[in-house]
Amino acid sequence: MLYLKIIAIPCFVLSNHVFRASAVPMDLNVHPEHLPYILNSRTDHNKSRCWGYESDCDIDHRYLDPVCPGPETSWAPTKRDQIDTFYDQGDFGYVKQQREEITHMCEPINQDDSSLECTNHLKFCRGHNIMINFENILNKNHPIRYQMDVLSSGQIGGKCKLHKEKLDAQCDHLSPLQSWSPELRFFTPIENYPGKCDLIITEPTVIMKIDATVNMYHHFCDFLNLYASQHVNGSGASMFSKDIHILVWESFAYESAFSDTFQAFTKHPVWNLNTFRGKVVCFNDIVLPLLPRMIFGLYYNTPLIDGCENSGLFKAFSQHVLHRLNIDQKPNANEKIRITFLSRNTKYRNVLNENELITALKNYSQYEVKKVVYSGNFLTFKEQVHITYNTDIFIGMHGAGLTHLLFLPEWAVLFELYNCEDEHCYKDLARLRGVKYITWRDINKFTVQDKGQHPDQGAHAKFTNYSFDKDEFLDLVDEAATHVKKYKHGYSPKLHDEL
Ligand SMILES: *[C@@H]1O[C@H](CO)[C@@H](O)[C@H](O)[C@H]1NC(C)=O
Ligand SMILES: *[C@@H]1O[C@H](CO)[C@@H](O)[C@H](O)[C@H]1NC(C)=O
Ligand SMILES: *[C@@H]1O[C@H](CO)[C@@H](O)[C@H](O)[C@H]1NC(C)=O
Ligand SMILES: *[C@@H]1O[C@H](CO)[C@@H](O)[C@H](O)[C@H]1NC(C)=O
Repeated sequence: MLYLKIIAIPCFVLSNHVFRASAVPMDLNVHPEHLPYILNSRTDHNKSRCWGYESDCDIDHRYLDPVCPGPETSWAPTKRDQIDTFYDQGDFGYVKQQREEITHMCEPINQDDSSLECTNHLKFCRGHNIMINFENILNKNHPIRYQMDVLSSGQIGGKCKLHKEKLDAQCDHLSPLQSWSPELRFFTPIENYPGKCDLIITEPTVIMKIDATVNMYHHFCDFLNLYASQHVNGSGASMFSKDIHILVWESFAYESAFSDTFQAFTKHPVWNLNTFRGKVVCFNDIVLPLLPRMIFGLYYNTPLIDGCENSGLFKAFSQHVLHRLNIDQKPNANEKIRITFLSRNTKYRNVLNENELITALKNYSQYEVKKVVYSGNFLTFKEQVHITYNTDIFIGMHGAGLTHLLFLPEWAVLFELYNCEDEHCYKDLARLRGVKYITWRDINKFTVQDKGQHPDQGAHAKFTNYSFDKDEFLDLVDEAATHVKKYKHGYSPKLHDEL
């Protein structure tokens, strides 16, 4: 980590504008279960525990092995093939593949030179001593988001040997949220570094191109990719340091109902393009993380092999965020099965008879039922996650709020009342996270208010309201309860005998 110590301050730099990296010893502050994995990956001596992507990580010793209770397919004829496929698509195998692809696009010749390394299609890159010129932002008369012309030729570069053809060949996923080619196609070698930089950022900085921050499903795709990228980049004690900056590649001030989540990653305020408007900035240490809309990326539209579940990457992400946000799990004193019914506060996909369903559940003494509206008007995001983490059966209609499944305990069940013909979205996310998923089966046992009206696509199952048959509903919840009783740690079987 030599480069951390190289803090070049040329005479052009206004020294009061230099952000200095602190030399304070690291407080790891990671989930206790993660500690041996992080420390082992540093020492190299004791490889008895590893995440799974390290070159000498034994399958038996990796953090978590996915399971494939579903039948084999012609695509993956053996159990092992099936597990390996899932591992590469949605688990640390994905991280491993990215790490193996990393190659120099711009290579340092002398010590203190810049460097730029990327994976195929520029899905992930990291750089040292990289200059970025933010002058174009001065000329934009509308706010920048999802734009590919923030930089132009020569506005990003470093003092290193550029492999121009190699870089150009990887610029084939030219789209705002699929790769870093919209920016890196302009990478140019420079003679002097830091040359005419106005500002030097010495602390590690992650530049993020984020998806829709209003939608939990999409925004958590950003956070999951940030976490995965920390695995791709790092090893050792500093890989999850909170002394990093986040620069969001938009000129809007970052705002989101889920913004608390950034507290799991950084102790600093989130920067945006306006932070550096008009300036030339030199970054000692940057990561350009995996993006939310990559082709074959995580987890939006991930092609996921059937029959498999339980990704270590997703479990570790969940634990990491819960730990860093201080969300605790209360012991379940009365041993009832805790049911959270997520009520929607929107125009579509309301459950018209939800009070009837909830009253019916409350009639069973083994259930402790809570109806919630997850909106910032009623509960902070951390309060919402706390409820989720203390839930055994989470019930809700298709919608981004179901992304909360990421924070359910592992014995829990997600009951997506109805998927509104979007079959894979939450089912696959639940598989990745390793929680049981059930949904409505008999389409003759619910009533649709009308055909639904998509703003521009006509009739659409997501754009209407529903009523569900009470008895069928109770049967499905009973099925979920049976799963919880079987898998919940410390669940006392005495209790359900009496029912
Ligand atoms: C390796 O790690 C395991 C588990 O953390 C520990 O039990 C064992 O003693 C360690 N071995 C050595 C040689 O340090
Ligand atoms: C990338 O990982 C290295 C090694 O763990 C670390 O020193 C560096 O600060 C990381 N960079 C960023 C931007 O997080
Ligand atoms: C509650 O349970 C009792 C006894 O099983 C039943 O008679 C009654 O109809 C139930 N009430 C509701 C609202 O489901
Ligand atoms: C669905 O229910 C909500 C809340 O009751 C209502 O505002 C909305 O108009 C309903 N939508 C349709 C398509 O009827």
